[in-house]
Amino acid sequence: MSKGKYYVTTPVYYPSSKLHIGHAYTTVAADVMARFKRKIGYDVMFLTGTDEHGQKIERAAKENGISPKEFLDKTVGDIIDLWKTMEISYDKFIRTTDDYHKRRVQEIFKKLYDKGDIYKSEYEGWYCTPCESFWTETQLVDGKCPDCGREVELTKEEAYFFKLSKYQDRILKLYEENPEFLQPELRKNEMINNFLKPGLEDLCVTRTSFDWGIPVPFDEKHVIYVWIDALSNYITVQGYPDNVENGYNKYWPANVHFVGKEIVRFHAIIWPAILMALDIPLPKKVFGHGWIILEGGKMSKSKGNVVDPVVLVNRYGIDAIKYFLLREYSFGQDGIFTNEVLLNRINFDLANDLGNLVSRTIAMIEKYNSGIIPTSKLDVESDENLKNNATSVWSKVEERMENFDFSNALKEIWKLVSRTNKYIDETTPWILAKDENNKDRLDTVLYNLAETIRILSVLIQPFMDNTARKIWVQLGIDEGQGTNWEDTMEFGKLVTGIKVNKQSPLFPRIDIKKELEELIKGQENKQENKKEETNVEKPEITIDDFAKVDMKVAEVVKVEKHPKADRLLVFQLKVGEEIRQVVSGIAKYYKPNELVGKKVILVANLKPVKLRGVESQGMILSALHDDELSLVTADIESGSVVS
Ligand code: ME8
Ligand code: MG
Repeated sequence: MSKGKYYVTTPVYYPSSKLHIGHAYTTVAADVMARFKRKIGYDVMFLTGTDEHGQKIERAAKENGISPKEFLDKTVGDIIDLWKTMEISYDKFIRTTDDYHKRRVQEIFKKLYDKGDIYKSEYEGWYCTPCESFWTETQLVDGKCPDCGREVELTKEEAYFFKLSKYQDRILKLYEENPEFLQPELRKNEMINNFLKPGLEDLCVTRTSFDWGIPVPFDEKHVIYVWIDALSNYITVQGYPDNVENGYNKYWPANVHFVGKEIVRFHAIIWPAILMALDIPLPKKVFGHGWIILEGGKMSKSKGNVVDPVVLVNRYGIDAIKYFLLREYSFGQDGIFTNEVLLNRINFDLANDLGNLVSRTIAMIEKYNSGIIPTSKLDVESDENLKNNATSVWSKVEERMENFDFSNALKEIWKLVSRTNKYIDETTPWILAKDENNKDRLDTVLYNLAETIRILSVLIQPFMDNTARKIWVQLGIDEGQGTNWEDTMEFGKLVTGIKVNKQSPLFPRIDIKKELEELIKGQENKQENKKEETNVEKPEITIDDFAKVDMKVAEVVKVEKHPKADRLLVFQLKVGEEIRQVVSGIAKYYKPNELVGKKVILVANLKPVKLRGVESQGMILSALHDDELSLVTADIESGSVVS
C-alpha cells in the first residue's frame, strides 16, 4: 500500500561539462530523499534537469565556435553521464529546451499577461557593451561588469515586468502561516529582512538583447528571461497548464524543492508569487541547503578550485561519497571540503565501524559454525539491549529525515553500528568458542550479530544501495528476504540455516598519507590541463576552415591605456605598410611601454568591433597559464603571413 505521493526536485542545472562536488550535493541529497521515501512506501516522483536558455549559453557556444544546440547536446550529455556515475535515481529529466516545456512556458506567460500580472514597460539597467549584458545595480561588482570587470553604461530597453510587488503581503503571510514552507529557519529571516521588509520590486521577465530563449508568444522580439522559464519546469513537466485534467495534479504540488542557498530567493519569493498569480497550489517546502566550500572559498570554475566528483567516485565508490556528503555536513549549513575529512570519514565510519563489523561477523560464522547462520537458542537479558536498539532505529531515522537532517539520520544508524561492535566485545565469541558447553550461547550471539547487520543493511539502503546489496550477498539473503523497511522493526526475521559468503572488505582501509599525496599529484596534473579542460572540446575543423584565418606578424608601434576601461590596452600595430588599431584585454599582464617593438601575431581578418567606444581591427594572440599571460611573438619581418 502506498503512503501517498512524494514529489521531490533539484533545480534545473546550468549545462556544464564539469560539475563539481558542490553541484552534486543538491542532487545527492534529493536522490537519497527519493530513495528513502520509496523505501518507506511512497510513490515518488524525483525530477532533475537542465536550464538551457540565456545569454551565457549563447555566448559559451559562440566562444567554442559551435551552435547553442551542439554546445548543449555535449554539456547536457555530460551531466546525464555524471548522474549515471553517481547513481542518481531520478524519475524524470527535463531540458528547458524540450518542446513541451517551451510551449507550456509560453502559455503560462500568456496567462499571467492576460491576468494583468505581466505588463510592458521599460527596463533600466547597466549595460556592458563587450559582454552585451544587462546588469542591475546590485549585480555590479564595484560598479563594474560582474563578468568581465569592465565599465558599464546606464541603458534602457523595452521589457515585460511581472507584478511581484503585488504579492509581497501574501508571501509574508505564507511564511507566517506555514512555518514549514521555507527551511532552514535562518533562510526565512534572510528573505524577510533582506527582501520582503524593504519591499519587493516588480521583476523584469523578458529581454531583447539576446535571442537564445523562449519567445514571448505575442511579441516575438522579446525572449522570456530566466525565471519564468526555469522555475516553471517543475509544473510544465507534469503537464501544466494544458494537461490539468490528466495528471499535472498527480504529483504537483511538490513536497520539496531542494535548492542551494543562493537561489532560495527565486524559489521562496518569486516562485510562490508566480504560482499565486496562476492560482495554483504552492510547493509544500523549499529547503535551502548550504554550500560546500574549499578553504579558498566557494568552488567555482573561474577560481579553479573545484573538486571533481568523478575522480572521487572512481577512487572511493559512490556509496562512500554519498555517505560522506550527507554525514559530514549539516544540510542547512556551509561546510568545508578537504580530502582529509573525506578520507577520515571513509576510514573510521565505513572501513572500521561498518566494514569491520560485517567482516568480523561473517568470519566468525565461518569459523565457528561452518558458515551457516545458526539458530538463536540462549538469549540472555543483556541481549535485550541490542535488540531494542536495533528495532528502534527506524523511527529515529524517519524522524530525522522528516526534518531533512540527513547527518543525524546517519548518526542514529551508526550508533547501532557502534552498539553492535560493542556487543562483540561484551560477548567475546572467541572465548565462548573454546568451550563446547557454550555452543548454544555462541550460536545465539552469532545470530544476533547477523540479524542486527541485516537490520543495518536495510536502514542504510537509501544512502548506500550498493553496500546494502553487498551485505545481503554476504548474509546469503536475497532482496525481499527481510529487506523491506518494515523488516527493520522486528528482530528475528533473518532465516537460519543459510550459508554466508565471505567477500572482500566493504570499504578497504585507505593509507591516508599516501592517498593525500596521490590526490595532490592528480590535482597538479589537472592544473596543467586546466585551460583545455575548462573549455568545451572544440570541433574538428578542416584545413580549409583554418585557411580562412588570416594571421600576420605585426610590430607594436604604440600602446596606450583604454580611456574608459582599466583592463584594456589600445595597440597601434604596423602590419607591412599598414597601421592597425587593436584593443586587447591584457592590461593586467603588461605595462604599455614594455610592449613597443615586439612583433606579435595578429588575426587580421577578424570582423572589427568597438570595445567601450574604441574600434578594434583584429585580435592579438596570447597564451594563458594559470594567472600568467604571454603574447605570442615572432622574430621576422612585420607583415609576414603566419600559416
Ligand atoms: O542555479 N555547494 O543552476 P546551477 C553546494 N539553473 N551547492 C552548490 C554549489 C556548492 N559549492 N555550487 C552549486 C542554477 N551548487 C539555476 C537554477 S532552478 C529553477 C534554476 C548547487 O547549475 C546550487 O546551489 O548554478 C544549485 O542547487 C545546483 O548546484 C545547480 O546550480
Ligand atoms: Mg549557480
